[in-house]
Amino acid sequence: MKNFFLLILIISNFIFIFIHFKKKIKNIFYKKKIIETDVNEIHNIFETVKIDEIIQAPKKKAIIKTFSISAENKIVGMTSDYEAWIIGCISKVSKNIFEFGTCSGKTTYIMALNSSIDSKIITLTLGPSDVEDLRIDNADNKVSYRNIINESIYKKFLFSGSEEENKIEVIFKNSLKFDEKNYEKAFDLIFIDGGHTYSIVKNDSEKAFKMIRKNGIILWHDYNVGKTSSKDVVKYINKVSENRKIKKIKNTSLCFYKEEG
Ligand SMILES: C[S@@+](CC[C@H](N)C(=O)[O-])C[C@H]1O[C@@H](n2cnc3c(N)ncnc32)[C@H](O)[C@@H]1O
Repeated sequence: MKNFFLLILIISNFIFIFIHFKKKIKNIFYKKKIIETDVNEIHNIFETVKIDEIIQAPKKKAIIKTFSISAENKIVGMTSDYEAWIIGCISKVSKNIFEFGTCSGKTTYIMALNSSIDSKIITLTLGPSDVEDLRIDNADNKVSYRNIINESIYKKFLFSGSEEENKIEVIFKNSLKFDEKNYEKAFDLIFIDGGHTYSIVKNDSEKAFKMIRKNGIILWHDYNVGKTSSKDVVKYINKVSENRKIKKIKNTSLCFYKEEG
C-alpha cells in the first residue's frame, strides 16, 4: 500500500512538472529542423559598430521610430519590441510591403513610420464580421482557430487617424480567398502573421512566394517550438524549409527567407 501511494505521488509529480514546463521540456528534446541565424545576416542595416571588446552599437541607419503598448491596453497578438525593431529596420529599405494579419496594426504602424514617404503598405485582415464564414480543416490546430476569432476584433487600428495612415491600405478579406495574381513579384517585404492554422499558414506562404520580388524578404511570426498555438506554424515552416532556404532569427520567433536575385 505504501509503495502504491509513493508511485501515485511520483506520477503526479511528473504530470505536474510536464504541464508547467511543457515548452522547456519539448525544446530539450526537439531536434532543430531549421538553422538559426544572427539578425545581421538578413541585411547590412543590422551591422554594428565595435565600441570596445564588450560592447557593439547599432549604426545610425538602424535607429527607428517606434513605440510600446502597455499591458493595460490588452492588445492581442503582437510582435515583441525586438521583433518590431527588426521589422522597422527592414521597412526602412522596403518600398512595397505586404502584411498577412493586421490585428491592432502595431506592426503595420511601425512599418509605416519607418518606410520612405513614397512607400506603400497593404495589410490583409479579418474584421469582426468576416469570421462567420471561416472554416477549419480537420488537420488544423483548434487553439489557433480560436485565436483567429479572438484576434479578429478590430475595425480601427493603432495607426487610424495618423499621418502615416495614407500609406496604408487595409483589405478586409479572408486570405484563402485573396487573389495574389495582381501582385506577382510586387513586394520587397512580406510579413506573414495571419491565421496560425496549417491551412492558412500554407495558403499565405504559397501566395507570398509568388508575391515576393527578387532580393525581397519574407518574414513569418510565431515560430515557437512547444507553444500550442504555434504548432501549425512550426509544422509548416519545418516542412517548407526542406525545399526553401528558411532560417530562424536568433532570440525571436521570426523566420526569414530571401528571394535570391
Ligand atoms: C496575430 S494577429 C496579427 C498581429 C499583427 N501582425 C501585429 O504584429 O500586430 C492575426 C491577424 O490575422 C488575421 N487573420 C487570421 N486569419 C486570417 C485569414 N484567413 N485571412 C485574413 N486575415 C486573417 C486576424 O484577423 C488577425 O487580425
